[in-house]
Amino acid sequence: MKPYVYITRKLPEETIVDLTELFEVKMWDHEDIPAPREVILKEAQKASALITMLSDKVDEEVLSAGESLKVVANLAVGFDNIDLEAATKRGIIVTNTPDVLTETTADLTFSLLMASARRIVEAAEYIKAGKWGGWSPYLLAGHDVFGKTIGIVGMGKIGEAVARRAKGFGMEILYHNRSQKHEAEKELCAVYSSFEDLVTKADFVVSLAPLTEETRNLFTADVFAKMKKNAIFINAGRGPVMDEQALYDALKNGEIAAAGLDVFEKEPISADHPLLELPNVTAIPHIGSASTETRTTMIKLCGANVKAVLTGDSPKTIVNK
Ligand code: DGY
Repeated sequence: MKPYVYITRKLPEETIVDLTELFEVKMWDHEDIPAPREVILKEAQKASALITMLSDKVDEEVLSAGESLKVVANLAVGFDNIDLEAATKRGIIVTNTPDVLTETTADLTFSLLMASARRIVEAAEYIKAGKWGGWSPYLLAGHDVFGKTIGIVGMGKIGEAVARRAKGFGMEILYHNRSQKHEAEKELCAVYSSFEDLVTKADFVVSLAPLTEETRNLFTADVFAKMKKNAIFINAGRGPVMDEQALYDALKNGEIAAAGLDVFEKEPISADHPLLELPNVTAIPHIGSASTETRTTMIKLCGANVKAVLTGDSPKTIVNK
């Protein structure tokens, strides 16, 4: 009997041919509706491999549902949705999709920064709503980007790629990270800062931090209060690193100027969430790596990792070595 591979989202058939040639493959029926938990639990009972999305909770219950599970290939660089310790204990390999999404996610992060600074979404909504009465000197005036200071929290590969873009805009670069990045310091003149120094000095505070026990709720009311009044907060990493109520208060009370958010505490964020009512919030639905090319490459990397594990080879991008 061929090993059974379950994919928790409908993906284009042509992106998974390498798997369908070798294994029995089944996908969830919908592209944009997540597979319900009970379906994942049922499929995990017989699966040798799961290809999962960042929105699927892969916990002990899923990992222990069956006897055959050998690999969970997560379609994301982040893997905070997976209980890594439980997987490792059971000898289940977990893989992710680093590197292939670095530049695409950096493009999106920098777009969000630019859009937030220059009020692009607000301006587009304004003109479509027929509000444009005529040119005026301060109509939709935003903030400059060139020459300002960017503070990047989470200087992984995506952080460095954002820093390279910032350098092109003549920005000063501060960063905070678990470890110091000497190459980035040389190449980009990036300056390592304490978290407190960074949030106090940066005009753009950009969070690309992964979600861990240390980063959960890192951006609190106290942190927003330390930022400059004209600071713009960008989060393209993970939502739970910020206290959304505190962010709302800081934006509403003019403690900071604006926010650009690709990620939220709870996804999808509800349409009537107070943050979405603020004109100085640019919100987009977790599309960091969402270019067609990159998503296709990510899917193929998941497929290659599954194939490697099920045929006895080493996967390319294993998380729990
Ligand atoms: C990831 O891969 O972790 C990103 O959040 C996807 O956009």
